[in-house]
Amino acid sequence: MQARVVESMEDAKQAVPPEPRRVLPAAGMLKLSLGFLLLGVGVGLPAIGLFLARHSEAVAAAAPALFRPCVGAPEEEEALERWIRPPARARHAMADEELLWLASFAPRARGRSGGYPFRRVPKVAFMFLAHGPLPLAPLWERFFRANEGRYSIYVHTMPLYRANFTSDSVFYRRQIPSKNVEWGQMTMCDAERRLLANALLDISNEWFVLVSESCIPLFDFNTTYQYFQNSSQSFVMSIDDPGRDGRGRYNLNMAPEVELEQWRKGWQWFQVDRELAVAIVGDTVYYPKFKEFCRPGCYADEHYIQTMLTIEATHRLANRTVTWVDWSRGGPNAAHPATFGRGDITEEFLRGIREGGACMYNDRNSTMCFLFARKFAPSALEPLLELAPTVLGFG
Ligand SMILES: *[C@@H]1O[C@H](CO)[C@@H](O)[C@H](O)[C@H]1NC(C)=O
Ligand SMILES: *[C@@H]1O[C@H](CO)[C@@H](O)[C@H](O)[C@H]1NC(C)=O
Ligand SMILES: *[C@@H]1O[C@H](CO)[C@@H](O)[C@H](O)[C@H]1NC(C)=O
Ligand SMILES: *[C@@H]1O[C@H](CO)[C@@H](O)[C@H](O)[C@H]1NC(C)=O
Ligand SMILES: *[C@@H]1O[C@H](CO)[C@@H](O)[C@H](O)[C@H]1NC(C)=O
Repeated sequence: MQARVVESMEDAKQAVPPEPRRVLPAAGMLKLSLGFLLLGVGVGLPAIGLFLARHSEAVAAAAPALFRPCVGAPEEEEALERWIRPPARARHAMADEELLWLASFAPRARGRSGGYPFRRVPKVAFMFLAHGPLPLAPLWERFFRANEGRYSIYVHTMPLYRANFTSDSVFYRRQIPSKNVEWGQMTMCDAERRLLANALLDISNEWFVLVSESCIPLFDFNTTYQYFQNSSQSFVMSIDDPGRDGRGRYNLNMAPEVELEQWRKGWQWFQVDRELAVAIVGDTVYYPKFKEFCRPGCYADEHYIQTMLTIEATHRLANRTVTWVDWSRGGPNAAHPATFGRGDITEEFLRGIREGGACMYNDRNSTMCFLFARKFAPSALEPLLELAPTVLGFG
């Protein structure tokens, strides 16, 4: 902390204004070091004069400290709020190893009645795993509208892509530090863990849902929120497939951490609660096995989280996903699911996905099985925006 303040003082001498966001949390320290510095080197130094002139606001705040005695004056005590404040923006300079370590912290003591010792409105973290642009963003904007404080957004893209959302967008500055992702490889799981870890830094995030640039929401925000809140389980698809594309991808070298009968398969698009998210970013048992032994034709994103969570938390999983997809086009062995465009978007089509399912929800039969659907082409946006208010319940 001290080193950082000195650093920004160095910056100040070179007349580079420190970023306001960095100054604020360190305000107490800044007052202190400003006081020392001025006393130490004398008030007339031109560089300091320049600094004072350029930063009259910060100096006004710091001024009383200049004349405060060095001992005896009570420093402002920091309340819990300072420790639980989420990062102001999604970008940071942490390496993956540092990030995962930090994100794997979890509270052990429980506040009164099992909760937190402060008012916490649980949020849904929407984690967008995308190549670059989000062509369906306008639909999501409407979905999120008027629900501030109950969701957070994180976007992982190819590393060189720079998102260009304006400051009135919910996606503005929500891009996290990203790395290359190859389809079906462990780098895909790395990106998922990176998204989870970034989202875990906000202690209010309680549910974590992975979506892509071709995903759409099928219900309004409140229904989606309550579906997660009311559920006793997380929605991770996990099945034991005896065939070539299931157990056939198991590698004996994964034992004893993963035995054949523990091997699971499922679509990548998951929703997990906070505890499972911590388990995923904190995993050092299964990860190395998958990294080494789940190589193509084993597709890590279809097995790693599914298998790991089934071993560690079997009864917390609904074994199904809430993201609808259509594998029927292109035959039984299709490598990619169907993509829907402008001509496919009808009220009947959307209602079929929303209401036509058959699944278990909290140990009961339910027809409401999917909250999201993929894959949708950019050309689907216009008809989706048109139908959203009447069919999807928002917009
Ligand atoms: C970003 O968006 C703005 C407005 O939409 C546009 O004028 C600008 O050219 C864009 N910049 C880049 C780098 O795409
Ligand atoms: C959604 O839920 C919030 C919080 O319970 C409530 O304030 C808001 O009015 C609800 N919105 C709709 C559209 O029902
Ligand atoms: C969640 O539970 C509340 C209270 O029991 C109920 O009113 C609401 O309809 C439920 N929502 C969903 C989506 O299950
Ligand atoms: C999910 O699958 C596991 C076996 O992998 C099973 O023990 C568990 O009961 C299943 N959960 C549900 C909700 O069906
Ligand atoms: C749930 O649906 C299954 C068929 O999918 C049926 O066999 C079972 O009896 C139903 N259970 C209840 C409680 O309705």
